Amino acid sequence: MVKKKKGRGGASAPGQKSKNSRAVKPLATAAAPVPVDIAEADPLKAFADHLDHLADEHRMRVIPGDATQGRVDLLSNDYLGLAAEAQTYMPEFLRRFPDASFTSSASRLLSRANKYHNQLEEYLGNLYGRPALLFNSGYHANIGIIQALALPGTLFLADKLIHASAIDGLRLSGADFKRFPHNDMRKLRRLIKENYQAYERIIVIAESIYSMDGDVLDIEQLVKIKQEYPKVMLYIDEAHGFGVRGVRGLGLAEECGVTDEIDILMGTLGKAAASAGAFVITSPVMKSYLINSARSLIFSTAISPAQAAWSILMIEKLTGLNERRLHLQRLSRYLVKELERRLNFESPSKSQIVPLIIGDASEAVIMSEFLADKGFDSLAIRRPTVPAGSERLRFSLNAKLTEKDIDRLVTAIGHYR
Ligand SMILES: Cc1ncc(COP(=O)(O)O)c(C=O)c1O
Repeated sequence: MVKKKKGRGGASAPGQKSKNSRAVKPLATAAAPVPVDIAEADPLKAFADHLDHLADEHRMRVIPGDATQGRVDLLSNDYLGLAAEAQTYMPEFLRRFPDASFTSSASRLLSRANKYHNQLEEYLGNLYGRPALLFNSGYHANIGIIQALALPGTLFLADKLIHASAIDGLRLSGADFKRFPHNDMRKLRRLIKENYQAYERIIVIAESIYSMDGDVLDIEQLVKIKQEYPKVMLYIDEAHGFGVRGVRGLGLAEECGVTDEIDILMGTLGKAAASAGAFVITSPVMKSYLINSARSLIFSTAISPAQAAWSILMIEKLTGLNERRLHLQRLSRYLVKELERRLNFESPSKSQIVPLIIGDASEAVIMSEFLADKGFDSLAIRRPTVPAGSERLRFSLNAKLTEKDIDRLVTAIGHYR
């Protein structure tokens, strides 16, 4: 470790000039203090120590290899199985979008290559009946939009289990925010009441389907609250609802008939839609405001026109896959029921995401390895992604699975116990 030097200029923080910094002499001069034991200096050591600490706690993350060796995929968010059959759609893609380039070469605000981005926005806008705006990913959307919404006088109220990207947006925003207990509409209502006079607007952030618990937002109740309190705006992340819920797959808001009540509805294209990127559905004023304020949109090269064109094709397919959506819901209910009936395991899931809460990081890892041996790829989720003590396996179901697959999975889990 390099020891902190005392003396002229040595006490100032990194990046900060000391008052007499002009007087500091270069280290090479005879007057400069000699650094203590240069041979021992290792700026990487702290990072390596951090990794050792993660490994000790069974929380080390690694990027898996690409060989599934025929295992059943319970990892990916290809909920409708569209990504698995992408090759099938390639001839149609090439025929319809032969000029779609693989780069935008600039942010959309600077690029002339916006034909397919505009078409995708128009298509989404027509589906939802309100303007759409594209982002490069759900992460970009959440950090860029939440930060942009934080005008003075704003309070954010966010569900305790919102995704890391929304939390990062809140942190970047520097705005006041409070968290309410997961899915607790009574507590949310109380927080709104308590803070109503002090703020010009209160923006509630929630997800339609929660990515780690797989439970579902009471969106109708939330809309009722908004209708009672006109200063309240709703920001709903439909990352796991888009493609999966609603007759056309437009999300939980479509299923519950409340799309028009959601001020900012965010959907991602890298999950059920088998593409990449994200979009928001919002009012004309908000769309224009975000184009002028969302830094992740303004200062980042846009997804490629090819990606935008592929998204158009995939969303066209996705809207017609209601049978698969229903099958997926039946499978999910079946897994939850069988886990309880055969293994006495309760799962909070009300969707295609089914967690098996283990409560211990190393146990979750060992169990996911055991299931891999039995032919199932599942993910061990540990803190900080989920709270300590709620470590789990996460089963991400897709419409290509059958009841037989679910039976085999439950049997394999039973053998572990
Ligand atoms: C709820 C939620 N929001 C946002 C994101 C980020 O979306 P993207 O993967 O497109 O960056 C995710 C991704 O896992 C998510 O689960």
